[in-house]
Amino acid sequence: MSFFDGEMKIRVSAASGTEAVLKRELTALGYTPGGAERGRVDFEGGMRDVARANVFLRTAGRVRIVIAEFPARTFDELYEGMRAVRWRDILPGDAAVAVSAKSFSGKLFSLRDIQKIAKKAIADDYAARFGGRMPESGERYDIEVSIASDIASVTLDTSGVGLHKRGYRVKLGEAPIRETLAAAMLLLSVWRADRPFLDPFCGSGTIAVEAALIGTDTAPGLRRGFAFEKFALAPKVASSVREEAEERVRRDVKLRIRGGDIDPAAIKLAREHAERAGMGGHIHFQVQDVRDISSRFAHGVIVTNPPYGERLMKKGELDGLYASFGRAFARLDEWSAYVITSSPSFEKSFGRRADRVRVLYNSELECRFYRFLGAPPARRAQDEDVAGRGEDAKEDI
Ligand SMILES: C[S@@+](CC[C@H](N)C(=O)[O-])C[C@H]1O[C@@H](n2cnc3c(N)ncnc32)[C@H](O)[C@@H]1O
Repeated sequence: MSFFDGEMKIRVSAASGTEAVLKRELTALGYTPGGAERGRVDFEGGMRDVARANVFLRTAGRVRIVIAEFPARTFDELYEGMRAVRWRDILPGDAAVAVSAKSFSGKLFSLRDIQKIAKKAIADDYAARFGGRMPESGERYDIEVSIASDIASVTLDTSGVGLHKRGYRVKLGEAPIRETLAAAMLLLSVWRADRPFLDPFCGSGTIAVEAALIGTDTAPGLRRGFAFEKFALAPKVASSVREEAEERVRRDVKLRIRGGDIDPAAIKLAREHAERAGMGGHIHFQVQDVRDISSRFAHGVIVTNPPYGERLMKKGELDGLYASFGRAFARLDEWSAYVITSSPSFEKSFGRRADRVRVLYNSELECRFYRFLGAPPARRAQDEDVAGRGEDAKEDI
């Protein structure tokens, strides 16, 4: 029996501030996630669950398997802990092993030394089994040794390319948002597939495409590959999980998703991305200045990532843009808006105080995610706000 045949601890990472959404996603997939800590959530499962996490989770950055956890106050302890792992059940003889290191707190902090000693332990294990040096001519296995409070966690990456890369973005537009953050913003909002949606600053279309993927129940990882598919000693589970994902897709659903941007080149790129994602038929993109937005529908939802003024424009221009956006939004009947920006004067320029603000990070940049809730159709705002969410929705949303 290989290491991969049993139950394992599976560690999923997410952008700081979005862990609660990730937990909710895991619960919806039928798992019991543990506590959220430093941008990660653990749960128990087998290889099929590793595959499901990679294919289905919209807010996950990466999925790792925890191989071992042990005290590592000295390099000897680190070496012994690494030698105690049954690498023969995990790595084939020709594995190309890449070891990386992280240290948050504890006596061992030299990343170079942690990495070297961990790799030496794996090479010595190989030498004891086969004799000689590891050929490293086969598939790549990414091992991470992460030390926090003198405890080393050794994990194996199962994702490969980061999960934000769904495969539909060919070129980066101006200041694009990560697909995983776009999905988290949508999942934090009151938007549901039956409500109109608009991103008036859609750029290369990321938020609108993610909305269409959610609205059609299309798994974000359906059209890409993962590192775990190349694990020689792991059971082959990817195709049955892809079948499960295919069966869930709602092809006949009618969505009202729109994206607008003042830049024709951005709209061209957005259309290209939507097509590549298989969502072209579900989204209407148009060149439009935010001051001209309108809708014949009531109770729609805006989730958007406008310019922040970091690079794209000057402060005075930015305040003017937010003011125009605020005036246009005020004309939309009972719409809700969710806006991410790092600009501290956003609410003032927008002309309305948010009823909820949370901190989210757009890459490294600390931002605020502002919520302006309109009255939902038929139900009170609060009921709608938590409808269909996990247990912890009330405190989260
Ligand atoms: C931060 S980018 C959005 C990036 C997008 N979320 C993505 O993932 O590609 C902001 C966008 O606002 C657009 N923009 C700037 N001024 C605008 C205006 N007055 N009306 C509509 N769009 C505008 C820019 O062309 C740019 O594409």
